[in-house]
Parts: sequence; C-alpha cells; structure tokens
Amino acid sequence: MLSLDPGSPACWCFLCLSAVMRCLGIPTRVITNFDSGHDTDGNLIIDEYYDNTGRILENMKKDTVWNFHVWNECWMVRKDLPPGYGGWQVLDATPQETSNGLYCCGPASVKAIKEGEVDLNYDTPFAFSMVNADCMSWLVYGGKEQKLHRDTATVGNFISTKSIQSDERDDVTESYKYEEGSLQERQVFLKALQKLKTERAPGPHQGDSNSFSSAPRRQDSSRSLDTPSLRPSDVIQVSLKFELLDPPNMGQDINFVLLAVNLSPQFKDLKLNLSAQSLLHDGSPLAPFWQDVAFITLFPEEEKTYPCKILYSQYSQYLSTDKLIRISALGEEKSSPEKILVNKIITLTFPRIMINVLGVASVNQPLTVQVVFSNPLSEPVEDCVLTLEGSGLFKKQQRVL
Ligand SMILES: *[C@@H]1O[C@H](CO)[C@@H](O)[C@H](O)[C@H]1NC(C)=O
Repeated sequence: MLSLDPGSPACWCFLCLSAVMRCLGIPTRVITNFDSGHDTDGNLIIDEYYDNTGRILENMKKDTVWNFHVWNECWMVRKDLPPGYGGWQVLDATPQETSNGLYCCGPASVKAIKEGEVDLNYDTPFAFSMVNADCMSWLVYGGKEQKLHRDTATVGNFISTKSIQSDERDDVTESYKYEEGSLQERQVFLKALQKLKTERAPGPHQGDSNSFSSAPRRQDSSRSLDTPSLRPSDVIQVSLKFELLDPPNMGQDINFVLLAVNLSPQFKDLKLNLSAQSLLHDGSPLAPFWQDVAFITLFPEEEKTYPCKILYSQYSQYLSTDKLIRISALGEEKSSPEKILVNKIITLTFPRIMINVLGVASVNQPLTVQVVFSNPLSEPVEDCVLTLEGSGLFKKQQRVL
C-alpha cells in the first residue's frame, strides 16, 4: 500500500497502536491522509516562506505539510462530550506535538472535526489542522513578509481506509469535512478559527486536570487569523500551472512546462524566478539545485507554455531518500505590485523489483526464484546490495552483492 523508507520519520506507531487497541477489543482502523497538515501553533494555518528566487525557506515555526500521514480511528462512546460525538475517534500515535508536555494525540471525535467543534477534547484543533488547515505562503524580502497565496485545498484529500472484507480503498474524506470548496466547508473552517480565537482570549485557564489535555497551543501572533483575502493571481488575472510532460522516472531528465494563461483583456508581462529543491517527507526543504528565469508576455486571453528541463545530472546529487522535488515559480507582472506564486511537488518513480517464481513450489523442496531489477541510470552502478527475506524460508536475511 504505502512505501515507507526506514529512514523516514513517519508514522510507524500506528501499526502498534491498532494491534494494541484491537487486542483490547476496541474496533480500530487505519486512516491515511494526503497531504497532511502539521500546524504547530494551533492557528489552523500552515505558513510557508519563500525568498524572491522562488526558494522555499526552512520554516522557523516548523509548520509543515506532510505528503501523507497515517493515524488510527477507534470506535468509542464519549460520555465526556455532548451527545452525538461518539463513534469514530482519531488517535494519532505519531509523536508530533505535545499537549501540556505530553505526547498524546486524541481521542478526537471525527464528528467534532467535521463540524469544527475544536473546543471538544482531546487535541481536536491539531486533528482538524491535519485534514483542513489552509496553507499560506509568504515572501520574505528585506526583512518584511508579504502575503503571496492562500491555498485552502491541498491539505486533507483522499482520506482513506481499507474496505471491510476486501482490499479496496474506502474513501472516508466526507466523514472528516464537507466537500472541498463548498460554502459549508468554509463556514466550518471559520467557526473553528473563531473558537480558537475565543479560547486564546485572556481569561480563566481553559485546561483541565486530566492527563489528556486539550490546552490550546501557543500562538505567536494573530496575524494569520484574518479571513481569507483575494489571491494575488486573482488580482493579476494570470493563471500559472506546472505540468509534467513525461512520468518523472528516477535516472531520467525531468521535462515539464510552466503553463501561463492570461484571463484578462489586458496585455501581461511576466517575470518569474523558477527554482527546484528536494523535500523531505515532512515538507522540510533542502538547498535549491536548479534555477531559471522566465520572461513571458501574453496577449489578452493568450495561453503560453514555457518549457523546462531538469537534467538527471543536476538533481542526482541532491535527492533525499523521499525522492520528492518541489518546483516553484515566483515573480511579478509589470503592471501590478502583487507577487504571483505557483508550485508543484514531483515524486520520482523508482523501477520495481520483480520476483519471478521458476517452477512449482512444493513443501520441503528447493525452489528457484528470479529477482529482476534493472538499473534506471545511464551510468554503471557499483557495490549494489540486494537484501532478501522470506518468513520461514530463510534463517536470516540473505544479502547478494
Ligand atoms: C529573481 O531573483 C533575483 C535574485 O536572484 C531578484 O533580484 C529578482 O528581483 C527576482 N525577480 C522577481 C521577479 O522576483
């Protein structure tokens, strides 16, 4: 289902938690979310910072978007909550943020998340942000921060679990949020924001003495709490989008275009800085390895593509084990003081390892298998190791050099 690198920080803990909960007789299922918000300051907004070359900067606040995240749902009666909030509860076993010094995410009622009832215990604001945070991008320039773009749709898609009695994917997004882009979904978001604002207002301490505490997380400024504003690209009236021309295979050059569409009856003159950098699974950026500058002029309603190519030799040294590359374009249109930003995350595909069974497998008889792996690179590779294991077949891992 998911390919997890042993090196990735992620969410192994959910496997143990679901086993333990099921042993205790508590119905439990595993939930996967693409992309998952990780809002560390409890304002339901994931802030991203760029410099004027289009490079995404390391985030001081550690707000990040993980390309996926996995947690558990457990079925519980919630006598501590008003009626209607029992049923599936989010339990997130991955240590991410502490509640009053303890790592203990949940149980948070799925129904409360859907309705934006973020004041209901436990850790509901954090769980809400995983599926419904907005991403806000900022340009950091000359010591100032300028708002670039507010994205309400990246976080919380294809929320999935396994179907009962089959291996099919069961989409449960609708149990976590109203339809993306619907009025109801925005209203719930604003309601959740409002509740957090009220909780933060000076007044009696809202925490409880329970070891599970939902004390609101600290907030360093109220800047991000204002209501959504127009996106700069709405002002500039140019739509920008990256499109891949081929599947991005490891070892090959990456061919893509920047598609620019002029949505206005005016002439447009764009100047854009393009940049590519590797990302880790948790969204942390590494140094840029590719840059370009695009000058694009557009007649009214005109559409143009700007071709781009990142050579294998340009990215090979800079990949992380997560094989994620983020490309971005940031710039301006001559007649507007607003900035415009677009980005895309590319996941490189690795060649598969094929295992072919040669002959018939019978008990206590040797069996030959053939393992096929082809080198995707245009250069020879040396010192390769293939590790094989099979439960009950080998005494220990077999390493083939
Ligand atoms: C592009 O980056 C350069 C610095 O490399 C900067 O001087 C320039 O203003 C940037 N252009 C835009 C349109 O932001």
